[in-house]
Amino acid sequence: MATIEKSLTHEKEQASLWDVERIRADFPVLRQTVNGKPLVYLDNAASSQVPQVVIERGSMYLEQEHSNIHRGVHYLSQKATTAYEGARETVKRFINARESKECIFVRGTTEGINLVMHGYGRKFISAGDEIIISAMEHHANIVPWQMLCEEKAAGLRVIPMNDAGELLLDEYEGLLNERTKLVAVSHVSNALGTINPIKSMIESAHKYGVPVLIDGAQGAPHMIVDVQDLDCDFYAFSGHKMFAPTGSGVVYGKARLLEQMNPFQGGGDMIKSVTFEKTIFADLPNKFEAGTPAIASQIGLGAAIDYLNSISREHAAAYEHELLRYATERLSGIEGVRIIGTARDKASVLSFVIDEVHPHDIGTILDQEGIAVRAGHHCAQPVMQRFNVPATARASFAFYNTREEVNVLANTIERVIEIFS
Ligand code: ALA
Repeated sequence: MATIEKSLTHEKEQASLWDVERIRADFPVLRQTVNGKPLVYLDNAASSQVPQVVIERGSMYLEQEHSNIHRGVHYLSQKATTAYEGARETVKRFINARESKECIFVRGTTEGINLVMHGYGRKFISAGDEIIISAMEHHANIVPWQMLCEEKAAGLRVIPMNDAGELLLDEYEGLLNERTKLVAVSHVSNALGTINPIKSMIESAHKYGVPVLIDGAQGAPHMIVDVQDLDCDFYAFSGHKMFAPTGSGVVYGKARLLEQMNPFQGGGDMIKSVTFEKTIFADLPNKFEAGTPAIASQIGLGAAIDYLNSISREHAAAYEHELLRYATERLSGIEGVRIIGTARDKASVLSFVIDEVHPHDIGTILDQEGIAVRAGHHCAQPVMQRFNVPATARASFAFYNTREEVNVLANTIERVIEIFS
């Protein structure tokens, strides 16, 4: 207990060092009003906002470098290629991959998971094999595996969770066996905010020689990710949830596995040679990057990571955590509000329901006050079924949100309850 209190005090101290107004000034979109009210942007788990330096990097590419990569000997193509491959180096350092060729650029987490399903799953998973996912997965980490299981007559096993939204780890251990061929779990739940103990889960799977894919869509924006320390086999994340443009993302894979996998898509840039008889595929990472990629967006992802490196990520995480704690306290104090997802270890997501009020009505009234939240099933229908709700309203925070914004949210929720009572 003394240790928990000590770490809370440490976190509060770190959070107090965060100059949120200075950070907000970096994000032009936050300066606007919506319905005559200052924008309160609390939909960061869907897409986070983009700082000025990332916008400027994108404009610079379009104004001075726009060209196709890996294809031309001309000046612009070489500039674009250098910038694109520079972004890959930045990603490599950000997640501490061993080599930049282990970082495959994709459109986002969904494409990253599908790449592993097609490249690894279709090659190495067969009838009678089993894939383990968890009860809190986003559809992107359910549907591809269901499709594969159907195609291969393999079995999908699901780690259950308790009423707080924490995975039942004993049950997980019980699901692992010699038939298991892959574990695919989220780092942080997008619907509940639960942070899963992925390091120990990876260790357990590895005892059976089973590779582990981590859906890092909500993990990478909020936590320090070290793929070597985690020893995960695959880690997928999206740029648009971490202050970069849409269309950017990464799936990290251990080189040893990526080399054995089949390409995801065929086309230009992923080949060494093509004849009508046979194609020899390119080396990593190009083997997995067919066609012209989202060059500007991936360069933007590199710039977003540079931005994250320029602020103290430790202080940012502490600040976000403190904000989540404050928001949880405020909303728990409102009669009629029920928080969905009360795990001990949570990041940045506060899902809630109000008795007798549909989450879409909550979202609409909040929008009238300039507050952006997501209302719906959050692409996690099994989570809604587990908690016996059709949908939730979800406030999700980033390090540019403030306590005042949490107060505006809480006060407006009180008004929603008044309107419907
Ligand atoms: N997966 C995104 C979310 O949770 C879109 O909102």
